[in-house]
Amino acid sequence: MEGLVCVDDFEKEALRKLGNVTRAYYRSGADDELTLKDNGAAFSRILLRPFMLRDVSNRDLSTTILGKKVTVPIGISPTAMQRLAHPDGECGSAKAIETIGGIMVLSYFATCSCEEVAAAAPNARKWFNFYMHKDRTITQGVFKRAEKAGFEAVVLTVDAPVIGKRRDIERNPFDFPPHIKLPNACPDEEELSVSKAHDDIDHGATWEAVSWIKSVSRLPLVLKGIQTAEDAIHAVELGVDGIWISNHGGRQIDTAPATIDILPSIVKAVDNRAEVYLDSGVRRGTDVFKALALGAKMVFVGRPAIWGLTVDGTKGATKVMEILRDELDLTMALTGVADIKSITPKFVCSRDSLSKL
Ligand SMILES: Cc1cc2nc3c(=O)[nH]c(=O)nc-3n(C[C@H](O)[C@H](O)[C@H](O)COP(=O)(O)O)c2cc1C
Repeated sequence: MEGLVCVDDFEKEALRKLGNVTRAYYRSGADDELTLKDNGAAFSRILLRPFMLRDVSNRDLSTTILGKKVTVPIGISPTAMQRLAHPDGECGSAKAIETIGGIMVLSYFATCSCEEVAAAAPNARKWFNFYMHKDRTITQGVFKRAEKAGFEAVVLTVDAPVIGKRRDIERNPFDFPPHIKLPNACPDEEELSVSKAHDDIDHGATWEAVSWIKSVSRLPLVLKGIQTAEDAIHAVELGVDGIWISNHGGRQIDTAPATIDILPSIVKAVDNRAEVYLDSGVRRGTDVFKALALGAKMVFVGRPAIWGLTVDGTKGATKVMEILRDELDLTMALTGVADIKSITPKFVCSRDSLSKL
């Protein structure tokens, strides 16, 4: 890992190491990959406004998420099949989160079970990602299992009623290695397979499912994949605890806007009635800072953790998360803020607005 000093360094090294099929699976976005590219470009369009002569000698990156402390407001998004990157898989990502004190979100299509992840990183905060099963008794069972394993919240993915068209994956068709299992998606250990797990999903789920989840689960509910103020308001009215702005890392509907561009309108619509989180395209501490400035309470990364895992398993994922934490800390010091609650919209601006300030 020597010489790898930023997330982009890890990405380059991981892309070099991975085989064609796995590289295509992890890297690709939908269609022309315009949203994939814009997710990153949009962060670069936002400028920082550093303030001077403030005491930033002691900085505190901690904050409160769903009523409990995190040491740093950075987490790992649910990404499927992390054992294709490294045998440590999701356990490695969870350990990385345990080290930095963020939140690990385990994918429904994880290759480590929620019990394994809990045992590997007992002190990490963990949330459980899920899709609605056609058989709701199974979904209810999933909640109970996740809660028993110490997962604190459930995260419903709402932006994938079907899978987006990822051309690179079509060119490099996915060949699921038989030794890899999906122990969370399907309770019957003998029948685990990606296509079965996908077939079992209720692709017709509507807002009614959200009301149902609220009525059967005691765990806080987060909706992941919200991209409009209208949907955010709907979610809040149904009592959802967290609105997770995401375009699935540009993998679902191409030409959807970059998440950082829609964050302000959604924060305004939610009006503190739920927490707002964001992922898609976050690669630097300055990106995290910009999302916090525009109203996100917590910021997540998907592929960066995979690049870390690919490069050096748990150690690589940990290094990536430490880099992001340290870059956030540095950004705070250089913009003149000593704690997370002081990161407000005045610290960011667009190039066009510079002459009007
Ligand atoms: C390989 C891969 C697998 C993913 N699997 C899931 C998943 O199982 N559930 C889910 O809600 N999102 C999934 N996502 C989306 C991520 O949770 C996250 O929204 C996205 O990766 C964020 O963008 P970033 O990779 O630019 O950080 C996946 C993304 C990738 C790249």
